Amino acid sequence: MSVLLVTIIAMAVPFYYISESFYKNHVIQEVENRLSAHSNVFLDHPSETTVYHIVEMENQEKVNFILYDEQLEPVAQTDNITPQLREEYSRWVTEHVLEMEAGTFEGRTGLVEMEGQAHIAHIWSMYPVTDDEGVLGYMFIDQDTGEFNEPRVNLLIILLVMCFFVFILGFLAFLFLSKRLTQPLVEMGEMTHQIASGKYNVILDTKGEGEVKDLENDIQSMADQLQRYSKSRREFLSHISHDLRTPITYIKAYSSIMKDETGISEEWREYLEVISQQSNRLEGLVQDLFQLSRLEEGKVEIEKEMTEIKPWLSELLIQYKRTFSEKDITCSLKADHQNIKVSLDPKKFHQIVVNLLENSLRYTEAGGKISFLLYEKDKEVSLVISDTGKGIPEEDLPYVWDRFYRVDKSRSSENGGSGLGLAIVKKLVDLHGGEILLSSTKGKGTTFTITLPKKG
Ligand SMILES: Nc1ncnc2c1ncn2[C@@H]1O[C@H](COP(=O)(O)OP(=O)(O)O)[C@@H](O)[C@H]1O
Ligand SMILES: [Mg+2]
Repeated sequence: MSVLLVTIIAMAVPFYYISESFYKNHVIQEVENRLSAHSNVFLDHPSETTVYHIVEMENQEKVNFILYDEQLEPVAQTDNITPQLREEYSRWVTEHVLEMEAGTFEGRTGLVEMEGQAHIAHIWSMYPVTDDEGVLGYMFIDQDTGEFNEPRVNLLIILLVMCFFVFILGFLAFLFLSKRLTQPLVEMGEMTHQIASGKYNVILDTKGEGEVKDLENDIQSMADQLQRYSKSRREFLSHISHDLRTPITYIKAYSSIMKDETGISEEWREYLEVISQQSNRLEGLVQDLFQLSRLEEGKVEIEKEMTEIKPWLSELLIQYKRTFSEKDITCSLKADHQNIKVSLDPKKFHQIVVNLLENSLRYTEAGGKISFLLYEKDKEVSLVISDTGKGIPEEDLPYVWDRFYRVDKSRSSENGGSGLGLAIVKKLVDLHGGEILLSSTKGKGTTFTITLPKKG
C-alpha cells in the first residue's frame, strides 16, 4: 500500500517542478518575442504613433512597459507605474546595460522576486532597439506571471485528485485481491489446526484455485487418511482389549483356586502366586485399554448429579486410610468453605481421583504428604491434588497425558502402572466439560488442578 503512495508522490513532485519550469520558459519566450516584435515594428515605423500603439497594447496586456532612449531616460510608459517602481526598473535596466556592455550579462531577461507574491517571480526583460547606426533606445517589460501560474496550479489539483482516486481504487483492489488470495489459506490454516488437535473429520471447500486448490486437496486426503487410520487403530484396541478380557478372567480365577489347593508343593504355590498377581496386572491394563478406547470412540455416556464434594471426597479417602499409614504418608483435605456443590458423574469422578491419588501414592516416598484442596470461584469448582513426591521433569510434562507415556521408561519396574492412567483422567475431565492443569518440580512434588463448571 505504501508503495502505491510513494509512487503517486514520486509522480506528483516531478510533475510540479517540470510544469513550473515549462511555464516559466514559455512565459519568458513569449515576453522576449513580444519585445523583439515591438522593436521591429518601431524600426519599420519610427514615429510617436507607433510608440503610442505599443504602449496601448501593453496596457491591454496589463503589464508594465517602458521605452527608454539611448541615454536611458524614459520616453513612454504604460499606466499604473508608480514613481517608486519606475525608479527600481531604471536601476535594473542601467545595471544590466552596463553588464551587457561589459559582456557579463548575456540574457535580456531576469526573474525578480516581488514582495507579497506567492507564485513564480515577475519576469523583467529588456531589449535594445538598434539600427545600423547603433542603439536607439531600450524597451522594458515587467510581466507578472500570476495568471500563467493559475492553470498550472489547477492542473496540479486535477492531478492530485486523480492520484487520490487511483489510490483509493488501488487500495480497494489490493484489499479485494489479498482477501481472495489469503482467504483460502486462512481457512486451510484453521482446518490443519483442527487436524493437528485430532479432529480429522474436516471438509475443506475453499475458493482457491491452481496450486492453492492442489494444496487443499492434499490436506483433505491427508485428513481422510488420518481419520481412517485413527478409526482402525481405535477399533483394533477396542477389539483386542475386549477379546482379552475373557481369557484373563479364566487365568486369574483358576490360578487363584489352584494356589489355595492343598497338596501342592511350596514351589508350585509360588509360581501360581506369580501367575495370579501378573494376571491381575494384565486385567487392570486391559481394562484401562478398553476404557480408553471406548472414551476415544465417544461411546461413554456421562451421568452427572449435583454432589456435595467434600463429604464425597472424605468418604473416598477413608478407603485409603490403611494405605496411607502403611506407606507413612499423611493426607489432608481442606475446603475454602463447607458444602461446595458441583455437578459430576460420581463413578467417573471417582476414577479420576483414584488415578491421581494412586499416582501420588506410587511416586511419593515415605514421610511425604498428599493434600486435597477444594475451592469455588465464580461458576467453577476446583480440586487441587498435590503431593511431595519425586515430581516430573519439565521436559516430560507435555507428554504425560499421552497413552503409555511413562517418565520411567523401564517397563520392568514392578510398581509402574500401564501409562494409561493420565490419558484416561484427561478424557474423563473433558467429558465433564472441565479442564485439568499440571505443574510439577522435579524432586519437590506434583500438583494437579481439576476445574469443573459448577452446573454442568
Ligand atoms: N504424582 C506424580 N508424581 C510424579 N510423577 C507422576 C505423577 N503422576 C504421574 N506421574 C508421571 O506420569 C506418568 C504417566 O502417568 P500415568 O498415565 O498415570 O501412568 P502410570 O501411572 O501408569 O505410569 C507416570 O509414569 C509418572 O512418571
Ligand atoms: Mg497412573
